[in-house]
Amino acid sequence: MITLGIETSCDDTAAALISDDKGVLAHVSQSQDAVHLPFGGIVPELASRAHLENLIPIIDAVFSRANLSHEEVDLVAATQGPGLIGSLLVGYSFAKSFAYAKDIAFVGVDHLAAHALSIFLERETPPFPYLALIVSGGTSAIYRVDDFIRCTLLGCTRDDAAGEVFDKVARLLDLGYPGGPVISRRSTEGDKTAFSLPRAKLSEHSYDFSFSGLKTAVSQIVRTYEKDGRDLPVDDICASFQQAVIDVLVEKIIRAAQDTRIDSIVLGGGVAANDRLRSQLAQTGAAHGKRVYLPAREFCTDNAAMIAFAGAKKMETLFKIHHEDDVYSRSSLGR
Ligand code: KG4
Repeated sequence: MITLGIETSCDDTAAALISDDKGVLAHVSQSQDAVHLPFGGIVPELASRAHLENLIPIIDAVFSRANLSHEEVDLVAATQGPGLIGSLLVGYSFAKSFAYAKDIAFVGVDHLAAHALSIFLERETPPFPYLALIVSGGTSAIYRVDDFIRCTLLGCTRDDAAGEVFDKVARLLDLGYPGGPVISRRSTEGDKTAFSLPRAKLSEHSYDFSFSGLKTAVSQIVRTYEKDGRDLPVDDICASFQQAVIDVLVEKIIRAAQDTRIDSIVLGGGVAANDRLRSQLAQTGAAHGKRVYLPAREFCTDNAAMIAFAGAKKMETLFKIHHEDDVYSRSSLGR
C-alpha cells in the first residue's frame, strides 16, 4: 500500500510517499524560516500563504523523487491538528481533494501522535508500551504510547513550549529565528555553569512543564548587562539556558519512566534535534535502566513521513477493528 502524507501544521510544507513494505520512498520539506525571520517568530497569515505557494511544487517533487504516478497512491493522510488553523486548512483541503479526485481513502492524523510514532521510520523500534517526550515549537509533552492509535497524555506545557522558549531567548539575545539551532551552536562555546538559572519542577508528582520563569530570568540578565553597559556573554547565557531546559526535560521523562515502570523512551519534535539533549537523555536513561530511542534529526522536526506512517497505521487499525461488521468501507472512510 502506498500512502501520500501531507504536513502543513506550522511553518514547514512537507510531503512524503511511504510504502508498507519498503518504508519511506521519498520525503520533501520546505522550511519557511526566511519568511518569518524578520519578525522573530511565525506570522500565521504569512505561513498559510507560503503553504499555498509551496505545496504543489513539493507534491510534484515528492512524486518525481519516488518515481511514482498519482494513480499508484492508495491512501492520503494529512495533519488535522493541532497547529495554525490557516496552515492546517491548506494541506488538509488539498489532501481531501486529491483523495476525492482519485477516489481513494483519506485519513486525518494528529500531529503529536505522529511525532510520537516517528521512531517507526527507523530500523530499530521500541516495544509497546513506551513513553514519548515530544518537544517542539508548540509543545512539551510526555505521552504513554500503548499501540499505533492509543496515546495518553501524562504531562504537558503550562506556558511556553520548549522550542518556543529557545526561540524567545534567541530573540532576547538578538540571534534570529529559529532559536534552537543557533543557541545549540553558541552553547558549545559557552560555560553551562556561568549563570544559575531556575529549573521549574512544579509539584513533586507533576509531569507538566513550565519555562516562562526561565525566560524571565534570562531577560533579567540581559537587562542588567545592558543597564551596566557591559557586553553580553552570549555563549555563556546560551549554554546555561540550554542546560536548564535539558535538565528539566530529562528529569521529568526519567521520573515518568520510573513511576510507570516503562523501560523504553522515545524522543520527538524539533527540539529533539538538539545534540546535548540527545546525549544527556541517552546517558541518564542508560544509568536508570531505560532504553532511549532517538529518531534521525530529519524525522524529529516537522515532516510528512511521520504523518503518512501514522495515517497508514490508523487506517490499518480501523480496518481490523471494523472488518467483521464492515462498518467502514473503503469509499466511506474519512469522507
Ligand atoms: O517540531 P518543529 O519542527 O515544528 C514546530 O513545532 O514548529 O520544531 C521547531 C522548534 C523551533 O522552536 C526550534 O527552535 C526548535 O524546534 N529546534 C531546536 C533545535 N532545532 C530546532 N531546539 C533546540 N535545539 C535544536 N538543535
